[in-house]
Amino acid sequence: STDDRISRISSSIRVIPDFPKPGIMFQDITTLLLDPMAFKDTIDLFVERYKDKNINVVAGIEARGFIFGPPIALAIGAKFVPMRKPKKLPGEVISEEYSLEYGTDTMEMHVGAVQAGERALVVDDLIATGGTLSAAIRLLGRVGVDVVECACVIELPELKGRSRLGDKPLFVLVS
Ligand code: PRP
Repeated sequence: STDDRISRISSSIRVIPDFPKPGIMFQDITTLLLDPMAFKDTIDLFVERYKDKNINVVAGIEARGFIFGPPIALAIGAKFVPMRKPKKLPGEVISEEYSLEYGTDTMEMHVGAVQAGERALVVDDLIATGGTLSAAIRLLGRVGVDVVECACVIELPELKGRSRLGDKPLFVLVS
């Protein structure tokens, strides 16, 4: 059942206290990847949700969106577009700045990877404050792409990241 699959996924995620800084409970999905059934269930749950939604772009956020995004893209027949840290993509890019706890970061996407009017799913492993996903939504919106939904394995609901996504729905497996 779906509940059994969610339980397996949830128990395969390791929590490491005080990483990378004191007070942070790091949600480590590398242990999920070590359990082939949990990894398959994760991908299957997303594919079941998105296969008949006319999504033609899966935008994956560096770094762990690059693990979950591509198998979803392949299974639903969409292209995969990497959303990267600055200075990593070799072609012409468009950039979007977003705020962190201290300072700012930038997300980049190749110009020409997507076209106005296309329908995108944004994939990452985890939503915390929502700053990262909101930057991806703005970046895709600037080039006229319709973000249908954001999908994460894990949500930290106490950080209320969902409220930073405007009208874009967020789907998560584990809260
Ligand atoms: C983590 C996570 C998300 C982001 C979520 O990435 O994988 O991408 O933080 O945080 P937010 O909702 O507060 O924006 P991290 O900063 O660890 O970068 P990395 O994946 O490149 O290691």
